[in-house]
Amino acid sequence: MKSAGIASRGLVLTGVMVCQRPITGLRRLQGERGGCVEEVQRREPVTEPAGLCRAASVRAFEAVSTARGPGDTITLNDGNQMPILSLGTVGIVSIADAVLTPAVTYAIESGYRQLDTAAIYRNEVQVGNGIAEAINRGVVSREDLWITTKLHPNVTSREGVVPAIRESLERLQVDYIDLYLIHVPFNLFDAPDHDIVNIWKGMEDAKALNLTRSIGVSNFDINQINRILNETDTVPAVNEIEVNPTFSNVDIVSYCQKRSITILAYAPFGFMVQRPFVLYDPPLSTFEEPILRQLARKYGKIPSQIFLRSLVDRGIVPIPRSTNFRHIVSNMNIFDFQLTSEEVDAIIQLNVDDKVYSFDPEPLEAMMSYYGYPNYHGFWSKPNSLKLTINHSSSGLRSRLDDGQSLALMKSRTLVSNQE
Ligand SMILES: NC(=O)c1ccc[n+]([C@@H]2O[C@H](COP(=O)([O-])OP(=O)(O)OC[C@H]3O[C@@H](n4cnc5c(N)ncnc54)[C@H](OP(=O)(O)O)[C@@H]3O)[C@@H](O)[C@H]2O)c1
Repeated sequence: MKSAGIASRGLVLTGVMVCQRPITGLRRLQGERGGCVEEVQRREPVTEPAGLCRAASVRAFEAVSTARGPGDTITLNDGNQMPILSLGTVGIVSIADAVLTPAVTYAIESGYRQLDTAAIYRNEVQVGNGIAEAINRGVVSREDLWITTKLHPNVTSREGVVPAIRESLERLQVDYIDLYLIHVPFNLFDAPDHDIVNIWKGMEDAKALNLTRSIGVSNFDINQINRILNETDTVPAVNEIEVNPTFSNVDIVSYCQKRSITILAYAPFGFMVQRPFVLYDPPLSTFEEPILRQLARKYGKIPSQIFLRSLVDRGIVPIPRSTNFRHIVSNMNIFDFQLTSEEVDAIIQLNVDDKVYSFDPEPLEAMMSYYGYPNYHGFWSKPNSLKLTINHSSSGLRSRLDDGQSLALMKSRTLVSNQE
């Protein structure tokens, strides 16, 4: 694997004031985005931590990458080399054998070198099968791959971590993983002993036993990162968080990058793709963002590729998920061009603080139910379950249904969660 040449920018190239009006819904998002930028100005370099001392309205990015291929790597703060692109794998459990396993094998054959799974996705077996198939075919050896998985949120003590990673290793059919993450800092299971510092010590135990090469966190905010930094001996190698056009997540990205904590970006397509588990009205059409379209024309690319490349150019490792072979290849073809810093900044400015994933009980229940985890550990079993409102007449969803693959299944699904 070739190092991608990532560098801390250490200064802010461009600052843009964005309006502070609250934007509550996606309908407003589309209508008001254009009017939201009030002032553009060039700013002097700053030395203080982003997100702490600077005005909250100033946007910037902190790192650059010159990656030229999906196997290029960035160097983590523990010295390990992590591939610059990952394949997301969350999905509907019941079709993982049929859909996910071949997608994993195909992605590796195409050039992906990192896979992102989690114990709670209940698909580590299928991901492992896809990896084993690629290895059996002689496409790669285990050492060529970077496997990321995550601690199940129901593990809330230091003692639970090593047994949990051993279970993941068994499901993935490997002797070690490359990156193990605390999936969420939240106490989703209301465990009386829940403490992220204590859990992090268990992560350190797993690393000391060589069960994982690197350890990191996911969905951690600045305060939670600081607790790990101040109260333990190991700096997380990565923080995996949501980053997409409507959720640039600049403050936490900057904060982590300034501390050499690499960002893995999940849900990179945000609301440019359908999110059937999110209650929203109306569903957005896909990939319509004018700036992305304009840049796509300039570089001979498509909007999804422009956004993925903007992440790479920010020194962020994207985790696009697809089981569609055409999309798998398309999402990888982002290494023959590079955006200017002004273009990356313009994409960052699309932010309206609207994110796809929420860990509050109701949206969490809807999401888990959609993916096929009803009553998981008895947690998502509320009698007043949510109805998932899906507008089948929306152009975006219609095109996705025409596209077949995983959403064909939605036609036959009962779109009501936890009916009992
Ligand atoms: N750490 C965490 O808490 C956390 C949370 C959420 C997600 N994740 C990870 O991040 C990964 C990515 O997030 P995500 O799955 O929510 O969303 P995503 O990658 O932003 O979007 C996936 C959707 O986009 C579609 N798609 C992919 N490539 C496309 C293309 N080129 N053109 C049009 N549509 C395309 C996919 O459909 P097709 O399959 O049909 O292409 C799928 O419906 C997950 O799979 C998971 O591994 C982590």
